[in-house]
Amino acid sequence: MARVLTGIQSSGRPHLGNILGAIAPAIQLTKEANNESFIFIADFHSLTSIKDAETRKQNVMAVASAWLAFGLDISKTVFYRQSRIPQVTELTWYLSCYTPYPMLANAHSFKDKSDRLADVNAGLFTYPVLMAADILLYGADIVPVGKDQLQHLEMTRDIASSFNHKVGEEILILPEPRISEEVMIIPGTDGQKMSKSYNNYIDIFLPEKQLKKNINTIVTDSTPLEEPKNPDTCNVFKLFSLVAEESQTAELRAKYLAGNFGYGHAKNELFQLILEKYKEERKIFDHYMTHPEELDKQLAEGEAKAAQLADAMLEKIRLRLGFR
Ligand code: TRP
Repeated sequence: MARVLTGIQSSGRPHLGNILGAIAPAIQLTKEANNESFIFIADFHSLTSIKDAETRKQNVMAVASAWLAFGLDISKTVFYRQSRIPQVTELTWYLSCYTPYPMLANAHSFKDKSDRLADVNAGLFTYPVLMAADILLYGADIVPVGKDQLQHLEMTRDIASSFNHKVGEEILILPEPRISEEVMIIPGTDGQKMSKSYNNYIDIFLPEKQLKKNINTIVTDSTPLEEPKNPDTCNVFKLFSLVAEESQTAELRAKYLAGNFGYGHAKNELFQLILEKYKEERKIFDHYMTHPEELDKQLAEGEAKAAQLADAMLEKIRLRLGFR
């Protein structure tokens, strides 16, 4: 049985693109495989950019609520907030002292961010070491990540093997990356890939009125109402087909082709579809967002299990390094 671990950023409320492209498939994976799965919210990492406490809290709650709303089974997955196992920062320090400075200085993501961001702090620089600690602390065998994280995984393996070599014992497990091929590109309201940074996302957890407004921002062409429309070049149709059952998509396709069906009508169908399809998820999400104490309860078991594993690993390392 392999231990599969992945971290998710807590940079905001998960949108439809995150849900269809990442959350739903990851939850599916935890159900299928005969593996032990660990999923955590990387809230320590968020401090490199987000400095406002209330924003951080809200983001972490929203991410946790969304995963639970979409059916993450906490009896099968160790689900936790990174910061609730602060032991990870102790390991980060140890690993830092086995990480060559040039390895960090040459990391793509650091170079990108330091060119782009105003706040180039040391946390941004040591980000990959904290990520290595996230993985190595729990002895993960497999780490599913996007392509952009591949270099971080290579660094994790380098750090682990250099540590093992120097202490003369295979304490740390070298993780294998599993690159999630992006099978689904979810278009945003403007037709580009849906992304928080393009501000073209659909937030399915919004209250009805705001959700309707959000959906109305989807860009369409100017084909007049009476004329037939091409479903295959329309964002509204694409989004609809990603959420709907095949039969519903076929019906909508017929309406597009028949004419006398405007984009306003199509948007309304998408709106109704989202309300209906995600009715339960929206309810669960709202429930946890307004009952943080229940959210804490959902996370408590995972956090206790993670802490136990973390303590065991750290104790071995402290001994090895002469801190005991
Ligand atoms: N850096 C990852 C990202 O941006 C998030 C992350 C933090 C992570 N720690 C991790 C992913 C450990 C996998 C394993 O997506």
